[in-house]
Amino acid sequence: MTNSRAVPQEQIRHQLEFIDFIAHMQRDKQPRAFTATYGCQQNEADTQRLAGMLHDMGYAKADSAEDADIIVVNTCAVRENAENRVLGTIGAMAHLKKNNPDLIIAMCGCMVQQEHMTEKIKKSYPQVDLVFGTHALWRFPELLYRAMTGDKRVFDISGDAAGEIAEGLPVLRDGKVHAWLSIMYGCNNFCTYCIVPYVRGRERSRVPEDIEAELRALVREGYRDITLLGQNVNSYGKDLAQDIDFSDLLYRLNAVEGDFTLRFMTSHPKDASHKLFDTMAACDKVAKQLHLPFQSGSDDILRRMNRGYTAQQYRGLIDYARSKMPELTLSSDIIVGFPGENAQDFAQTLELVRAVGFDMLYTFQYSRRSGTPAAEYPDDTPHEVKQARFEELLRTQDACAEPRMKAYQDKRLRVLVDGESRHADYPFTARTDGGLLVYCAGNGLEIGSFAEIIIEKTALRSLFGREVRA
Ligand code: SAH
Ligand code: SF4
Ligand code: F3S
Repeated sequence: MTNSRAVPQEQIRHQLEFIDFIAHMQRDKQPRAFTATYGCQQNEADTQRLAGMLHDMGYAKADSAEDADIIVVNTCAVRENAENRVLGTIGAMAHLKKNNPDLIIAMCGCMVQQEHMTEKIKKSYPQVDLVFGTHALWRFPELLYRAMTGDKRVFDISGDAAGEIAEGLPVLRDGKVHAWLSIMYGCNNFCTYCIVPYVRGRERSRVPEDIEAELRALVREGYRDITLLGQNVNSYGKDLAQDIDFSDLLYRLNAVEGDFTLRFMTSHPKDASHKLFDTMAACDKVAKQLHLPFQSGSDDILRRMNRGYTAQQYRGLIDYARSKMPELTLSSDIIVGFPGENAQDFAQTLELVRAVGFDMLYTFQYSRRSGTPAAEYPDDTPHEVKQARFEELLRTQDACAEPRMKAYQDKRLRVLVDGESRHADYPFTARTDGGLLVYCAGNGLEIGSFAEIIIEKTALRSLFGREVRA
């Protein structure tokens, strides 16, 4: 079954033809491509698609921007500092064109999907040759061909915000252990602070047949740790003709043969159901790991964020999830300094952090995003107060995480070894089922294999373990 939003196959074939044209044009050169990615895992997954296309066009990977014939910067718009970092990087690239006049600089992704940003780049960043938004990603070969052969800069942020899904384009992943697997794109939630729904378009799900086929291919290639991606995976399937939800998808993927772990992110509390937690508990390949952002502990702020749940409901979800999976690793996102947040609201956030006990928190200071409803909300909290709250939140979380991490001392765990580390005494990195970082030692350890270890030492954000032989 195909998705009604699928990009027609003849258009995909057309892009594959452009890939061949470019490969042919460059057959006597040895061109190199450099990619830089800002933002979330979705963007990393998108960059891997661009890298796949570049590879098939004949580009080898460049180690740095200085060595490259093409630079692709995949951008993020979620907070102002993400945008500033991108502009700083692009600014610093202007001089590279002096040494290599044929160099192509391309920008894509969420930040440039905003019209005001495209205008800014047109005016103030003449070194950029090609700009394309999130909806034009699959047309990269054609756009690049135009940028290489025409005498004008190419700007394309068109596309269908209601959503399109492009299947059948190449992908080049980093490493051989972890893989991202997108199951859906876009977001319909319109949290009042967030730019993502505006730059990523509406929710659209890939059909389960395509997802399962990609998973099977990954497992065949030896990937052991596969993360299903979506801005809100709990609404998977709502837009599909067939009757399937995220739990049904998890059962289906869990049934694929092989030795691998499935993770997923991100979940939204308003759609996280008991059925989901029952499914996680029942599926042996699904990691007992949950990233469930709550953003604020104040019901008033949650309402003004348009989140669709209360702090009490959130705690109820966690209680249920832990009753089914006592070993669950739990993380969350929090925004400090939302417009109008007062001392009492913030105290409720701290209370929720203490009451729930998270293994990991991702904390952000509110950043005003133009075009979102919250950008118009009055905000009279001074910056210093927000900064002080932010620091208090970090201290509170560290105090909560310490005993949680210490409890791992002397525990025996199964981990997936995924890389080399910089610790001489613990030369490998590994991940627990819950996704915690472990530095490991042992003669039998091998990257890409599961191992049994005993935890010898704990720190605030990582563990240290030694292999145990059966
Ligand atoms: N779809 C995911 C999150 C995407 S953005 C979800 O809803 O969980 C990741 C995180 O960035 C959000 O959870 C939020 O905590 C933070 N964030 C989003 N917009 C922000 C803004 N304008 N200012 C500060 N943090 C923001
Ligand atoms: Fe942004 Fe909310 Fe959508 Fe997450 S669910 S991407 S925070 S609008
Ligand atoms: Fe950033 Fe876009 Fe992800 S705005 S956080 S890269 S969806």
